[in-house]
Amino acid sequence: MPSMYDIYENHAVEYDELVDREDCRGELAAFMRGFVGRGERVLEAGTGTGRVTALYAARAASVLCCDRSAHMLERARSRLAAHGDRIAFRVLDNLALAGAADSGPFDLVVEGWSFGHTVSDFPGREDETTDALVAACRACLAPGGRLLFLETLGTNTSGPVAPAPFLDAFYRRLEDEHGFRRTVLRTDYRFPSLAEARRVTGFFFGDRMAASIEAAEVPEWTGAWTLA
Ligand SMILES: C[S@@+](CC[C@H](N)C(=O)[O-])C[C@H]1O[C@@H](n2cnc3c(N)ncnc32)[C@H](O)[C@@H]1O
Repeated sequence: MPSMYDIYENHAVEYDELVDREDCRGELAAFMRGFVGRGERVLEAGTGTGRVTALYAARAASVLCCDRSAHMLERARSRLAAHGDRIAFRVLDNLALAGAADSGPFDLVVEGWSFGHTVSDFPGREDETTDALVAACRACLAPGGRLLFLETLGTNTSGPVAPAPFLDAFYRRLEDEHGFRRTVLRTDYRFPSLAEARRVTGFFFGDRMAASIEAAEVPEWTGAWTLA
């Protein structure tokens, strides 16, 4: 099984086999419709292959899609081709996101399942890393701008819980120190078969997760942290 970062550098197609099966009842899509206003200028960190971007791109005035992986952004470019005139791409590390301010200001900074990785990169420094990420986002915002962070609250679990202590520390810091509000979304995966559910989740999450999957529909919990 490849590491997460190996997947992001080399396996964007396989990554999409997973995320394109997520949110089978459209809760995240509905949330994004309600959150991103028509004509807003959006900065998205950790865009990956653009599956979150695709949920709101038609309404945005412009989107700057950033990611550390040029490989993932290349796939995002083809997914988002229909909106090509309003979308730009930049290879940029999350911790250097303040550098995107030169293309701003932005009404909204969005990230999905990416800042959690950055927090995990600095074990024992969860608070400092969270503060640095929030500060980088704020540096890019127009007055009155908003932040939206989407992160996991568990895969194949019966309820929404931060799946690792570093994520729990990250989420608590967002809420307790920075005033973010948490909304819980149910974003289950639906695969064509149990075998496919096991194959695809196993590639991304590992053999132990694959062995724990018991149905073609796999529970997934997502937290949406917002700061107005
Ligand atoms: C789980 S994927 C999420 C992608 C996309 N937002 C989505 O929801 O499908 C994590 C993404 O974060 C990117 N990433 C991880 N660490 C990063 C960092 N330090 N700076 C920028 N991007 C990073 C990876 O390259 C990958 O595209």
